[in-house]
Amino acid sequence: MWRLFFDVLAARFGNVGWWTLMNYGYAELESETGSFDLEPEDEAERYPIALYHHVATMVPVAGCDVLEIGSGRGGGASYVARYLKPRSMVGIDLSGRAVAFSNRRHVVANLHFRQGDAERLPFEDQSFDSVINVESSFCYPSIDGFFAEVKRVLRPGGHLHYTDLRLAHELVAWHAAISRSGLEIVHEQDITTNVIEALRRDSNRRRDGGRRIAGGPFSAIADVFTGVGGTRIPSLLASGGMAYHSFLLRKPPVAQPSAAYAAG
Ligand SMILES: C[S@@+](CC[C@H](N)C(=O)[O-])C[C@H]1O[C@@H](n2cnc3c(N)ncnc32)[C@H](O)[C@@H]1O
Repeated sequence: MWRLFFDVLAARFGNVGWWTLMNYGYAELESETGSFDLEPEDEAERYPIALYHHVATMVPVAGCDVLEIGSGRGGGASYVARYLKPRSMVGIDLSGRAVAFSNRRHVVANLHFRQGDAERLPFEDQSFDSVINVESSFCYPSIDGFFAEVKRVLRPGGHLHYTDLRLAHELVAWHAAISRSGLEIVHEQDITTNVIEALRRDSNRRRDGGRRIAGGPFSAIADVFTGVGGTRIPSLLASGGMAYHSFLLRKPPVAQPSAAYAAG
């Protein structure tokens, strides 16, 4: 169902070059520091990019081999590849049309996109130092299958930089899946207030952008999809009916034999 939905989006809006990210964004709150610099051409999508900045910088990716799963229209992978300097970066998405758009739109050294399923990753075991996953896992039929594949393609000690949203009644099952994944929780943060603030600050751009691609009788649907103020997602986040969390998870490093054992 989600493949169809995102394929239709990409087919209909594949040439809309200014729209490169599809998440609800992240804003530093007034009491927090840590804003980051962007080139002028990236400023328009600051808040969705900031969600990538938030997860991708939890541990440095410079010099690493990085995979993004659910790369969408590619703007997040492009930010990571251009600003955070991994050695290599590949984005995969279930939607072939979104992948085709991404390869056309983001021509960046050491970055490419290919079609792939989060539950059947087209990569050898232990191929990556970091995996990034932003607002995509809510679509996956088997969250266990996703975590098993991430663990398989990560090198020992490698990280999953992970963020997503869940309805309040789904949070216990989500945490249980993370617990049984065999990935260690290095850091977890409830970023719901940061996402609410991003949606508030970005609401006009979201409304105008959504209506540029689906206006007239479809305006109300576009507003819901893009998270304009007063619609379902911001309201659920504000009421506690939905939460947005970020995680840094780690594949356990290879256990070293003890000195006594190694000595024979
Ligand atoms: C809300 S969009 C977020 C895209 C991107 N991460 C961003 O923040 O702009 C969710 C993406 O997940 C992708 N997706 C859904 N199910 C998938 C799966 N099983 N494997 C890979 N990608 C998937 C969709 O095609 C879509 O591009």
